[in-house]
Amino acid sequence: MNEFERVCYEQDGFLVLEGFLPAADCDALQARAAELVAGFDAGAQRTVFSTRDQEHARDRYFRESGGDIRFFFEEEASGQLNKIGHALHDLDPVFDRVSRLPEIAALASDLGLAEPLLLQSMYLFKQPRIGGEVGWHQDATYLRTEPPSVTGLWFALDDADRDNGCLMVLPAMHREPLRQWFGYDGGELVMRTLDTPPWPDEEPLALEVPRGTLIVLHGLLPHASAPNRSSRQRHAYALHLIDGRADYPADNWLQRPNLPLRGFA
Ligand code: FE2
Repeated sequence: MNEFERVCYEQDGFLVLEGFLPAADCDALQARAAELVAGFDAGAQRTVFSTRDQEHARDRYFRESGGDIRFFFEEEASGQLNKIGHALHDLDPVFDRVSRLPEIAALASDLGLAEPLLLQSMYLFKQPRIGGEVGWHQDATYLRTEPPSVTGLWFALDDADRDNGCLMVLPAMHREPLRQWFGYDGGELVMRTLDTPPWPDEEPLALEVPRGTLIVLHGLLPHASAPNRSSRQRHAYALHLIDGRADYPADNWLQRPNLPLRGFA
């Protein structure tokens, strides 16, 4: 990351780095995801994941996925995968290797993460004509640290555009406070709306990017993606980092009691 990119990230809360992930690594992640899917017994562990309603909140399968590799389905299309999560980067050798490329470690350092830890990984399917929308949110809603440190790395594994559901952002809105928080209240997972105003009325920016692009997202930057209306798939790999110097509250939804967090070493 050069000085110009650093300033852009600071000002806008996101950064687009085209050509970051080599085609061979995009291929490797897509091939490995296909193998994982082929080996998955869908009938046994089906669950529906949606960021819109919180039905999954009662689902143990989801709760325990922070330290496992689990499969989640589209809400409105039975049998169609939405994503795989959330510890691919620690439990699968291919995802481990790509997630810990030296270039990513260097970027994490440039982003100011003094003790970067790889907290969460997701392989995101956006199936042709099926892949659903992801509503506006801040990643710190789901992965909160004190002080805030979560940083999203979103790798395009296919060309992404408006038609197949590319990322959309509200530039510079990472200076806004956290709007919602999702985590444990006693034994229950709840979404709490914090006492903050609605989003400023600003036109979202669609980030149309070619395969291999890395989009860096500040943990407080609002982002979303539209449904895939095209006949083309839009796969992506998302990796979330936190700073080990920050406090990671015990009421965050993602807990890994049996799998210590690791950095890039
Ligand atoms: Fe997100």
